Amino acid sequence: MSFRSTFLGAGTYLPQRVVSNDELARRVDTSDAWIRERTGIGQRYLAAPHETCAVMAAAAARAALSSAGVDANEVDAVLLATSTPDQAFPATAVRVQAALGMTGGFAFDLSAACSGFIYALSVTDALIRSGQARTVLVIGAEVFSRLLDWQDRATCVLFGDGAGAVVMRAGPADGPGLLSTHLHSEGSTGDLLYVDGWAGRDEATGHLRMNGREIFRHAVSKLAGAVDEALAANGLAYADVDWLVPHQANKRIIDGMGRKLGLPPERVVVTVDRHANTSAASIPLAFAEAIGDGRIRPGDLVLMEALGGGLTWGSALLRL
Ligand code: ACO
Repeated sequence: MSFRSTFLGAGTYLPQRVVSNDELARRVDTSDAWIRERTGIGQRYLAAPHETCAVMAAAAARAALSSAGVDANEVDAVLLATSTPDQAFPATAVRVQAALGMTGGFAFDLSAACSGFIYALSVTDALIRSGQARTVLVIGAEVFSRLLDWQDRATCVLFGDGAGAVVMRAGPADGPGLLSTHLHSEGSTGDLLYVDGWAGRDEATGHLRMNGREIFRHAVSKLAGAVDEALAANGLAYADVDWLVPHQANKRIIDGMGRKLGLPPERVVVTVDRHANTSAASIPLAFAEAIGDGRIRPGDLVLMEALGGGLTWGSALLRL
């Protein structure tokens, strides 16, 4: 018997505290105009001490299970994409498993920086297609505020905290669902975006370091390749794509991808203006928002793409 991974429901969690560009401009030498013009970011949500990766991931997971109409004990696997786990181990995913009251299944974290959710979807698809899991909770959750250097204006303005989750379940191989995922990494570019220490629940010993210009250059070319690869593998054209749900790093990169696909702006889901870059959480946050407000509907073809530290990058093509 062969299966396809079908989408059942999505949920999100955002911290309570919203921080505007103007508030950041009182801490570092920046301005609302600079941040908006270069990135499209207008504000970000920042976690309070009690809003850990596990807490936010569990909240998003509960919302996803509720929208899917699935009980936590029907879940066979919890995959949590994060670069900001609460602890080195146990995996934050098992903390989520406990918080949800799951008595079975298995849970683990997956680290691929901003591409983490695409990687987690790909692993989910493999588990489902092989029959190893029937129902999988796929979560992206990040507290990047804990690993930012708040004195570095070039990076601290770019990121935010949050979590998004989806429930995927085995369905018929000829039905809707994940059509493909494609993953890439290039270790030789690992020093373009990295953390120079450890970041956990408490005081971080490491901070995010980035060569923004180089990341921008790689993002434009590698994401263009990822989009073409996804469509070619499925015999599809740009015109077949109903929605682009990109990683939300920078509005200029997002707009460039939308233009490449020939999609009108209203067919590109954008949250970077309100959430900033939430790394592995950005795609499920954006996707859940567009599912929740009825923009993305059954039958639609959704293209997701991301690039992040590693460098890692990839795509997922999902028929609702
Ligand atoms: N406010 C005001 N000025 C700033 C700020 C700030 N927050 N940050 C940097 N500057 C200054 C710099 O000091 C520099 O000044 P100088 O010319 O006097 O030296 C000037 O602005 C230009 O700096 P650059 O870093 O060259 O600015 P750039 O135009 O490249 O924009 C940015 C920076 C927005 C980070 C851009 O490179 C970019 O979008 N890169 C993509 C990286 C990205 O999105 N990373 C997110 C993580 S990776 C991912 O998720 C894909």
